[in-house]
Amino acid sequence: MSKVEFKPGTMIYPLPAVLVSCGSTPEEYNLITIAWTGTICSDPPMCYISVRPERHSYEIIKKNMEFVINLTTDNLARQTDWCGCRSGKKFDKWKEMNLTPGKARLVNAPTVVESPVNIECKVKEIIHLGTHDMFIAEVVNVIVEESLIDKKTGKFDLSGAKPLVYNHGEYFNLGGKIGKFGWSVEKKPKIKTKK
Ligand SMILES: Cc1cc2nc3c(=O)[nH]c(=O)nc-3n(C[C@H](O)[C@H](O)[C@H](O)COP(=O)(O)O)c2cc1C
Repeated sequence: MSKVEFKPGTMIYPLPAVLVSCGSTPEEYNLITIAWTGTICSDPPMCYISVRPERHSYEIIKKNMEFVINLTTDNLARQTDWCGCRSGKKFDKWKEMNLTPGKARLVNAPTVVESPVNIECKVKEIIHLGTHDMFIAEVVNVIVEESLIDKKTGKFDLSGAKPLVYNHGEYFNLGGKIGKFGWSVEKKPKIKTKK
């Protein structure tokens, strides 16, 4: 394999491109597309979003200290891109993109009804990094689309929702399944041989 050095940059890809909804009143409700996001702790469940201070959403989130991460799918790809190219300073993104604000249970921010997974977050800390501020948040409630839960096993399967993936400036959907957690170390069943 022949390799070259590349300038230091944000090269961790692929990432999800999520729709973050914020605002405590309908007049304030806004949507921002975020790729700088991720899980940082299992218990308590914690995640982060990194937001540039010049975004319209920045002040709204900072004021309310609550937001919802809405996972995106194949059929939300256009809305996800659009909400990441237009500002709530000038547009009502909900109206423009035909998205519906829903009711979160524990936070003062709307969910996106059309998204299959709504993750309600409460900000614990804001860290100033440079271009972006990192909002570290605790997940206080998760709302999921019922049809993604297997009725018999109760297992949640997100692949059925065709999650959207952001890879160095481009959007993709997932390819086929190539394994499951732990499969590489699973013990192979012993084959009984007749003596
Ligand atoms: C795929 C994608 C990912 C983005 N990720 C981020 C991000 O992680 N942080 C950020 O501050 N802006 C990000 N943006 C840019 C904002 O979504 C964009 O500036 C948006 O118009 C801000 O909206 P607002 O001004 O209504 O808050 C992203 C845009 C796209 C298209």
